[in-house]
Amino acid sequence: MVSDDRPIGIFDSGIGGLTVTARIRQALPAERLLYFGDSAHVPYGPRGLEQVRAFSFAITEALLARGAKAIVIACNTASAAALRALREAHPDIPFIGMEPAVKPAVEHTRTGVVGVIATVATFQSELYATIVERFAQGVEVLHQPCPSLVKQIEAGDFDTPITEAMLRGWLEPMLARNIDALVLGCTHYPIVRPLIERIVGPDVRVIDPTPAIARQLDRILQRDGIGRDPSASGDLICYTSGDPVEFHRMMERLGLEGAPVYQATWDGSVRLDRP
Ligand code: DGL
Repeated sequence: MVSDDRPIGIFDSGIGGLTVTARIRQALPAERLLYFGDSAHVPYGPRGLEQVRAFSFAITEALLARGAKAIVIACNTASAAALRALREAHPDIPFIGMEPAVKPAVEHTRTGVVGVIATVATFQSELYATIVERFAQGVEVLHQPCPSLVKQIEAGDFDTPITEAMLRGWLEPMLARNIDALVLGCTHYPIVRPLIERIVGPDVRVIDPTPAIARQLDRILQRDGIGRDPSASGDLICYTSGDPVEFHRMMERLGLEGAPVYQATWDGSVRLDRP
């Protein structure tokens, strides 16, 4: 097999996409990963879809300029805003996007009511409306935006009384409506999964689509013959438009220590200068 040593580009508004990156590293340890966290613009959730689309295009151009062979949009909001347009603009590049896992939630439910938590922008998107239309199948799907949860997570408040109180305010009304499945529709949310599980209890299945994304990426690399020699050893290099020291600290807390983090410059376009 020919080994394609080009990196896989991955991006998110901040540290959320690292949950996806960790899964990709586990599933595809030979691949080289190039991650961009747009910490200067986080959160994306309260922004308009058009602005998020513009950010997504600028980041994609920078990852492609670094030779990315595939792009993982490790952000539900950016996927909702830009996945289709990016595929149209770059038909030769495989894009893997995130979408709320409504289908497995609907397959799981016995009560006939499921919950989805995501950003305001994700819920406003056409992509979300299409997914509900296709997969809800008579099941009631409750939508709960969680404004400011991403900010708490970016601040490192993964399990504080304030984060817990915020989550209770969003989740308890859905529990009162008898949900038995809860979809994590934002890549930041798996970071607070232990807290979410404590609140919803054992009778509600929490659904995180990130493992499925790693499998999908694997399939696409195989399909297109662009995988790296499996005996090679992969690596991870991160860029942030925010503070690299702070970003590195977060990576350590998420179990991704050891990977270097560099400053990206953003002046009209994004530049990922080689160290
Ligand atoms: N992690 C992102 C998502 O999956 C973005 C959240 C945000 O920046 O508001 O939606």
